[in-house]
Amino acid sequence: MAKVKTRYVCQNCGYISPRMLGRCPNCGAWNQLVEELEPQKVIAPVTPNSAGETKQPVKLSEITFNEEKRVHTGLTELDRVLGGGVVPGSLVLIGGDPGIGKSTLLLQVSGQLEQTGGQVLYVTGEESASQIKLRANRLHVQGKELFIYPETDMNAVTQMVQQQKPDYLIIDSVQTMNIPDLSSAIGSVAQVRAVTSQLMTIAKQQGVTVFVVGHVTKGGAIAGPKILEHMVDTVLYFEGDLHHNYRILRSVKNRFGSTNEIGMFAMQDDGLKEVANPSEIFLEERLAHATGSAVVVSMEGTRPILVEIQSLITPTLYGMAKRTTTGLDHNRVAVIMAVLEKRANILLQNQDAYLKATGGVHLDEPAIDLAMAMAIVSSYRNLGLAADECFVGEIGLTGEIRRVNLIDQRIKEAAKLGFQRIYVPANNEVTHKNQHQIEIIGVRTINDAIKKVF
Ligand code: TYD
Ligand code: MG
Repeated sequence: MAKVKTRYVCQNCGYISPRMLGRCPNCGAWNQLVEELEPQKVIAPVTPNSAGETKQPVKLSEITFNEEKRVHTGLTELDRVLGGGVVPGSLVLIGGDPGIGKSTLLLQVSGQLEQTGGQVLYVTGEESASQIKLRANRLHVQGKELFIYPETDMNAVTQMVQQQKPDYLIIDSVQTMNIPDLSSAIGSVAQVRAVTSQLMTIAKQQGVTVFVVGHVTKGGAIAGPKILEHMVDTVLYFEGDLHHNYRILRSVKNRFGSTNEIGMFAMQDDGLKEVANPSEIFLEERLAHATGSAVVVSMEGTRPILVEIQSLITPTLYGMAKRTTTGLDHNRVAVIMAVLEKRANILLQNQDAYLKATGGVHLDEPAIDLAMAMAIVSSYRNLGLAADECFVGEIGLTGEIRRVNLIDQRIKEAAKLGFQRIYVPANNEVTHKNQHQIEIIGVRTINDAIKKVF
């Protein structure tokens, strides 16, 4: 085999050098040169693009998209996040902290895919075949058409795929895979990129659906999934904290569906179980009539979830007032507190404020403003809110309550969970047929809301 040539490319300006240099002679940046494979000089007459199609102009009206081609994994939560099922020939990256459950999820998915009649090749660079067997036993995965392949050499994997022609290829994890022609260390930026681009070629040219695990890393020499996001079709992040047993699968990029979808799972002794109704979990431990607690109906993609927002307002002891947030945007909290101060005459500058979205979720949409404000006022005045009311609305700087999107879905979800009253922006047109007898109260300004609520 001819020797594979490599070159060094500056990640900052694109300068190409045949040798490794500490400082880029073109842009002057330090440590930006990364080894990459020399591109092949011979170009095949028709090369498929990244979607696996050959380059021929086609009339838009004549292009067909067959939705039925999607494969349902049997895990509804995963299917939703993927946009309705697995698209054959796509490359899906699953990122997450080490130990969060990526391997567990993919082994379960492999078991499900195998049952749909596909053959799965599970390449493991981290664990031995017997370790996987042990896990499969816990998960009750059978594995008649599931092949475990402990290998880290990408060339060997490519050959094996050509030989075995699986329908699905699982790579656990991208950071352990190695292209021997590249001299950079396993897990380095250059290696991880080259491995991913080789996987993309496998996916598109052979129609193999590829799932790749990528560990999230804290900078340094090992490359994380962030640098791969632009190369793959779909990026899912598996999140949750290790102290809680539920996990959220979040789609941050999807060429075959909408992003911001979430799927919820609970990690149990025998694997991940789907959580069909996340709101119940988020509200499970709520204390009735506690002060500083307000429930918001927040949208995660197309899905409404009810989450409790808590606040604790206490007098500042030493000089500067403190603002601490968990799961909420620090700036958003600061704005709401300023609006309360200026428009509702609530003196907060000498108060410490601690705000939290419970259950380890991260809420970041304007519609949570009203619930945040009500939680703050409730704690400040030491007045509890009714356990069966919830809030939706964005707050503007002049204290007006602004319209939010998807109001009907939010009301429906609140009603479904037994809430009796929901405060919504007065300007929002509610077309929801109120079969659930939930009282819908429109509010115009922050003062209006405080008056009606307390
Ligand atoms: P793992 O899938 O190995 O994480 P990752 O591949 O993201 O590094 O999962 C690790 C954790 O999951 C481990 O701490 C044990 C736990 N776990 C369960 O609680 N139940 C189970 O059935 C399995 C297989 C794992
Ligand atoms: Mg793992």
